[in-house]
Amino acid sequence: MTGVLRDAIYAVRKAQLRFERRRLDYGRETRDRADRLAAVLPASAAELRAYEREYDDLEWFHERYADRVDAIHEAGVATDTTHWRDGVTLYVVCRALEVETAVETGILFGSFDAHILAAMAENGGGTLHSLDLPGGPPGPFEYGHLIPDRCRDRWELHLGDAREVLPELLATVGPVDLFLHDSDHRLPHMRFEYETALPRISPGGVLASHDVRLSELFDQFTAEHGLPARTVCDTGIAGVPPWESPD
Ligand SMILES: C[S@@+](CC[C@H](N)C(=O)[O-])C[C@H]1O[C@@H](n2cnc3c(N)ncnc32)[C@H](O)[C@@H]1O
Repeated sequence: MTGVLRDAIYAVRKAQLRFERRRLDYGRETRDRADRLAAVLPASAAELRAYEREYDDLEWFHERYADRVDAIHEAGVATDTTHWRDGVTLYVVCRALEVETAVETGILFGSFDAHILAAMAENGGGTLHSLDLPGGPPGPFEYGHLIPDRCRDRWELHLGDAREVLPELLATVGPVDLFLHDSDHRLPHMRFEYETALPRISPGGVLASHDVRLSELFDQFTAEHGLPARTVCDTGIAGVPPWESPD
């Protein structure tokens, strides 16, 4: 397939996704979050709801996060990069699993990074390795602008194309409890990241992906590998059973 054709297909899928998002009942997605996650995580829906309430009450986080969201909106460089609902899903997952090591591709302003790191701060431990292309986000911002200062010492920034950098990064940081894809959503790249990450995820860990409603890929991939998976809002979460180490 040529790059031009692939990009055209991707543009059509993005348009379809925008349409589907308008139809999606996000209130219901949010209400069902705990039940859906309980189907793939070693935690009950009641425990997961408790983490949702904890997130709602996380004053130190919301104050700083809201200020930084405002700064981005005031600069006029983005209006929809804050992913509140999907951020809560990642917060809950990281609290429930007490995630120690996480790897994320695609940082931009760092909405997910902020939520994962907030959960690590509440857990009292953990490191998030985040990867994005050299350069930076639009406007007068750095990658990860949304991350509150309180969590920054748990954050390791890596620059490079995931195609080149991700395999070595995953091999270097050791088994990860959470891998989150949110970089290039073209299907070959998504599959590359899922395939590269899966053997590096620790038993009982999670393979997560944003924008899974763009295509059937996440559902297909998790079914192919026998991973129990659920989608909440726009994020797919799959539980990972024990694997043989690739080393
Ligand atoms: C949708 S944004 C990420 C949003 C972010 N996760 C958040 O929480 O707000 C996608 C990001 O992926 C990055 N990206 C795209 N292709 C990439 C690649 N091949 N390797 C690494 N990062 C990539 C882009 O530079 C962009 O910052």
